[in-house]
Amino acid sequence: MSERDIASLYKNFESETEGINSAADLEELRLRYLGRKGLIAELTGSIPTLEKSERAEFGKQVNALKNRIISLLGEKEKFLGRGSGEARESVDITMPAFLPELGHRHLITQLISEICGVFEKMGFLVIEGPEVETEYNNFTGLNIPLEHPSRDAFDTFYLKGKNRLLLRSHTSPVQIRVMKSRKPPLAVVVPGRVYRPDATDASHLFMFYQIEGFMVDTNIRFSDLKGTLEFFLKKIFGPDVRMRLRPHFFPFTEPSAEVDISCNICNGKGCSTCGRKGWLEILGAGMIHPNVLRNVGYSPKKYSGFAFGMGIERIAMLKYGIQDIRIFYENDLRFLKQF
Ligand code: PHE
Repeated sequence: MSERDIASLYKNFESETEGINSAADLEELRLRYLGRKGLIAELTGSIPTLEKSERAEFGKQVNALKNRIISLLGEKEKFLGRGSGEARESVDITMPAFLPELGHRHLITQLISEICGVFEKMGFLVIEGPEVETEYNNFTGLNIPLEHPSRDAFDTFYLKGKNRLLLRSHTSPVQIRVMKSRKPPLAVVVPGRVYRPDATDASHLFMFYQIEGFMVDTNIRFSDLKGTLEFFLKKIFGPDVRMRLRPHFFPFTEPSAEVDISCNICNGKGCSTCGRKGWLEILGAGMIHPNVLRNVGYSPKKYSGFAFGMGIERIAMLKYGIQDIRIFYENDLRFLKQF
């Protein structure tokens, strides 16, 4: 056996392979070349009969031939698997497919659509505003004067530059934008991100989501606010939830209230979640301050309105009994997959 013989053996093998189109024939070919009594075994077996000096080189060539044969057989096998006719028997087309794992929307995104959906049913429009705001829209227009201590409650990230742009600290500036660009009657909800330079802990993040809501028309009364909120809270927390309003202060509403719901863990009896009070604070609300109406060019004599604002993560925490706000944004699938 010489080098040339080895090369022609491979050529033979190649042309034989080409003619094959069934798995059974391919197996027959494989055995004829690679089987225990096959051609390769025969070649290997002949090595001891060679001159000592030739054995190593010849062995190497036989090995290379064997590898080329194995790899061509592999390719042919793959080809037949994909192909038609008899070859298909090696693929079980009745086997259930491997389905790709589908993701889903984040809990907070789901809750935002759920909440907006409740308000849309009542005729509210969903409008979004920018996260970078002017100082006027975030503060001044909302009757929060410069250098007034009430600004501390909305501690703010300012951007570099002379025009005092900032990351909005609440969604209320969208009230100003919408009222300036449209005319009453208005019923609008505004979901979106807000930013405050708070130190992160179990109940604070420097970025979170709010939903603002407001309605402006002739003859909008505090009872309209109450009825709207009660309808909304029952949709989100169930028909048995009770609501109460406590007097509060916001510069952009007068009168203002903080709204509580009966604790959904202890049903109002008092537990560790509600601090034994039986009530959980859930949002801020009030009648739009006449100064705000004037700032957008509405006459407070003709129009009145209510507004409210809530933190989405807080609602999610109360609805699902989540203890730590940070878990929403840690991207831990063990948590996210539960919703
Ligand atoms: N903007 C207030 C906040 O972020 C919430 C609020 C909105 C209160 C509208 C009253 C009316 O805390």
